[in-house]
Amino acid sequence: MNILLTGSAGFIGSYVSRCLLDRGDTVVGLDNINSYYDINLKYGRLRTLGVNREAIDWYKFVQSDTFANFRFIRMNLEDRQAMKMLFANGHFDVVVNLGAQAGVRYSIENPYAYVESNVDGFLNILEGCRHSGIFSLAAPKSHKHKHKSALHETRSTAHSLESDLHILFKTYIQICLHIHYIHEPH
Ligand SMILES: NC(=O)c1ccc[n+]([C@@H]2O[C@H](COP(=O)([O-])OP(=O)(O)OC[C@H]3O[C@@H](n4cnc5c(N)ncnc54)[C@H](O)[C@@H]3O)[C@@H](O)[C@H]2O)c1
Repeated sequence: MNILLTGSAGFIGSYVSRCLLDRGDTVVGLDNINSYYDINLKYGRLRTLGVNREAIDWYKFVQSDTFANFRFIRMNLEDRQAMKMLFANGHFDVVVNLGAQAGVRYSIENPYAYVESNVDGFLNILEGCRHSGIFSLAAPKSHKHKHKSALHETRSTAHSLESDLHILFKTYIQICLHIHYIHEPH
């Protein structure tokens, strides 16, 4: 299968990329390599996928020197035009969306980063899938959902409040978008 995998320099995305490549899928890995945490970790993960730091540039496809079936592109999910072009030319069968602004406390510190990546970016993914007729989209949900309902619990500590806001924000937006895209005629 021909797969677009976002967040391919990330913790989960790099491992999923490797699994898909080993399985024989063709993967285009996308990541903006932001500095939310040490970028050397991200470049290191890309190196294990055969992509050299020196070869990486914005909006440029880099062919892996280890995996013939892997190419990487540095791009922002929220870049609407670039995402449109990517989908138009990519002929993807499946999208695995692991590119996101993660973290709980940082959503209070820099909420715009979350809106740009997780709302605008996610909408671009949904639109790309819709216009390309892609019906297979995989995206994670927060591990915190396994343990508690953010809607029904009230806690008093600052950490809990931040955590709740993060969960509510991410879940609410993504559920709304999913509902819209599932129920609206295309
Ligand atoms: N790690 C966990 O334990 C865990 C648990 C549950 C859910 N998740 C979710 O899985 C996803 C991936 O998590 P992770 O741990 O791999 O995070 P990560 O931060 O290591 O990886 C995310 C990657 O996305 C990239 N990215 C962020 N914003 C982007 C944008 N606007 N455009 C392009 N690339 C962008 C980052 O540079 C990063 O490499 C996130 O949605 C996270 O919330 C993670």
